[in-house]
Formats: sequence, structure tokens, C-alpha cells
Amino acid sequence: PPPSGPRHFLELRDLDAATLRQILDVASGVKRMQRNRARPLHPAAPLAGRSVGLLLSKPSTRTRVSFEVGVRQLGGEVVVLSASETQLGRGESVPDTARVLSRFLDAIVLRTGRAAALRELAQWSSVPVINGLTPASHPVQILADVMTFEEHRGPIAGRTLAWVGDGNNVATSLIEAAVRFGFTLRLATPSQFSPNKDVVAWALEQGGAIHVTRDPREAVDGADCVLTDTWVSMSDEDAAERIALLEPYRVDRALMACAASDALFMHCLPAHIGDEVTEEVFESPRSVVFDEAENRLHAQKGLLIWSLCGENWTRFGEEE
Ligand code: CP
Ligand code: NVA
Repeated sequence: PPPSGPRHFLELRDLDAATLRQILDVASGVKRMQRNRARPLHPAAPLAGRSVGLLLSKPSTRTRVSFEVGVRQLGGEVVVLSASETQLGRGESVPDTARVLSRFLDAIVLRTGRAAALRELAQWSSVPVINGLTPASHPVQILADVMTFEEHRGPIAGRTLAWVGDGNNVATSLIEAAVRFGFTLRLATPSQFSPNKDVVAWALEQGGAIHVTRDPREAVDGADCVLTDTWVSMSDEDAAERIALLEPYRVDRALMACAASDALFMHCLPAHIGDEVTEEVFESPRSVVFDEAENRLHAQKGLLIWSLCGENWTRFGEEE
């Protein structure tokens, strides 16, 4: 965006490494501050007087509740809109919706089943637009994943992560994170569900350490963290066919045994136990999936502060 334009958060690759790092630093600061004070509200109420809209055209548990609670904890107001209940559901255009909502709201979080709608909304909105998942990417999830890895294992730069299963929206954002945060990423997927070729090409051009394979064991070998996701995303239709093809990509005890002895297991949730991951791995001490879910709240608070709190935004991550 132009220097004076809204601070949209559409894709991880749109932000430079330093800004992404600062967002996570502010997120950790806000998380610590809350824990220390044993109360939920940020002492400086950085979003006081601001209203954030959540425009959701797909189901959500974590994204909805973490943004809703996070905005309130920062002192702001929140409006949750199911897209089908708005005039969007009756065909009002995205540009008109963007221009109207910009007059009422200070930021818009969008979850959409049509990836192009995100850029369109941002193009026409005069307030920041935040990607709350599209069929193409899920960057807020990966902010929380990086934060979770580092809380458990220290700096992620130079470490190796393995993605196993569907090369989906979450995998795309993880590839972009590998470039921006400097970790190695190996992805094992069936050829039918390869990761987004354009994003892989971009990552390699940037010097990213991205390795794509068909072999889950090769991807997981010695890795510091193993990640997977549902085999049937919200935008997918051919469920039975997908599950059959992805069967060899289940994360089970044998596959985890190929990873480093202290490797973490992550999953953005919701999980389908017995499909992409066994109950044994999901419930094991290596699984940090609920820390990961909690960090959606904290990471997104860092993000909202970056989007909405102007030039000196990083001060909201520091203790007074
Ligand atoms: N991981 C995630 O985005 O979950 P929801 O679909 O529940 O928001
Ligand atoms: N890949 C999944 C993620 C859900 C949070 C989906 O798009 O449905």
C-alpha cells in the first residue's frame, strides 16, 4: 500500500520481514502484559473508539472468537456480519460494500470462499482489510503458528518445518512465512494436491529453502515441527476422492518417529482425527495445537495494533 494508505494484511508476502517480526513482538508483549496483570484488557486500550467488522461468508470458530474477543480486549468495538445476512448475499457488489463499510468501520476482517473478493475489498476499502482465510491463503493462522513454535523452541530462523498432506491455503501462507522468517520448509503432498506453484516459484526466487516432495518420510526426516491440516477444506467438494488420495499422508506415530526427537506437532484446527492425524499424535505431549489456537488471539492483537495504531504502534507492546 502507499505510505498513507490503509495497512491491509492480505498475504504474509506483502509485509517485510522486519514488520512481521515486530507484529509478533508486540503480540508477545501484549500477551505477557495481560498475564502479568491478570486481567484481560490492555491498559492503554489501543483500539478505544474504533470499530472492527468481521465479515464472514464461511463458518469459523477460532477466527471469529479470537478477533471478536481480541478487539474488545484492546478497547474496541466489534460487529460480526454473516455475509449471507448482508446485501452481499443478495448481490450488492464488493466495491460498494467496501465503500459503505469503510464509512462505518475502522477495519474489516474478511473470510470468503472467493479469493479474488479479498483484493477487491481491499482495493475499494479506505480502512485496513485483514485476510481471515480465503481458499488461497490463511496468513493470520501462520502468524500464530510461528509465535507458538518460538514460544516452545526459540527462534524459528534456520529450523526445519515439515508440512504433510494437502498443499492448501494454510500451506501457501506457511511457504510465505518460510521466506519471511527464514526457516526451511519441506512439503509432502500427493501430486494432485501440490502446493501453489506460483507461491513456490516466488519463494524460490526469494532464496527460500522450500522443498516439495511426494514422500512424507523425506519431508519429516529430522524436522523440528510437523504440521498438517484437514484433507477436505471448506472450499473442497470431492471429499471421498481426496481422502482416498491423502490416506498415505496421515501423521501417525511412525511418521513422527522420523522427525527430531523433540519435534512439535501443529494443526490449525478443526482436526479430523483418524484422517490427517491419529488420536495418539494429536493428544501426545508433542502436540501444541491448543497453544496454537490460543495464540490466534495474541498474534491478531499484534496485527490489529499494527493496522490501526499509526506510526508509534510498537509502543503498545511495551510495559508502561
Ligand atoms: N484455524 C481456523 O482458522 O479456525 P476457524 O475456521 O474455526 O476460524
Ligand atoms: N484448510 C482449512 C482451514 C480451516 C481453518 C479450510 O480452508 O477449510
